[in-house]
Amino acid sequence: MDVLIHLFVGLHIIGIAALLGGFLTQTKAMGQGTARFVPAMLHGALTMLVTGVILVGLNQADDHHLNTVKIGVKLALLIVILGLVYVKRDDENGEKVDKGLFGLVGLLTMANIFIAVLWT
Ligand code: HEM
Repeated sequence: MDVLIHLFVGLHIIGIAALLGGFLTQTKAMGQGTARFVPAMLHGALTMLVTGVILVGLNQADDHHLNTVKIGVKLALLIVILGLVYVKRDDENGEKVDKGLFGLVGLLTMANIFIAVLWT
């Protein structure tokens, strides 16, 4: 079971890479107000949700203690991220996203990373 949990932590990290990496490719455009929520960000956010929920299930099935408040906060922030990158996703009529809103998604993503690693 531990191997399975670690495997999903790895997939969870690939999700962070897509979400944060997608954000970082847009920082120059963000400064000019022309950033877009690229597909990698939407797919990364979805990956975080799916792997996160699976990680909760696997940890509980294995009787590992989980900090439910921490997971709840991460989930709440991710739902905001997911909502924004989905509604304003870069599809055929994809929109340019306002600087402040785009920056907020990057900020919330980084907040979730530090919540994950600092909140013990
Ligand atoms: C952008 C959103 C998210 C980020 C950046 C993030 C980040 C991380 C990181 C870096 C880890 C590995 C470090 C650690 O074990 O503490 C981790 C583990 C984990 N994450 Fe996430 N996560 C996010 C969203 C979620 C969501 C939405 C859930 C659940 C619904 C979730 C559930 C978990 C669980 C269960 C673990 C392993 C157990 C633990 O140590 O807490 N994560 N996350």
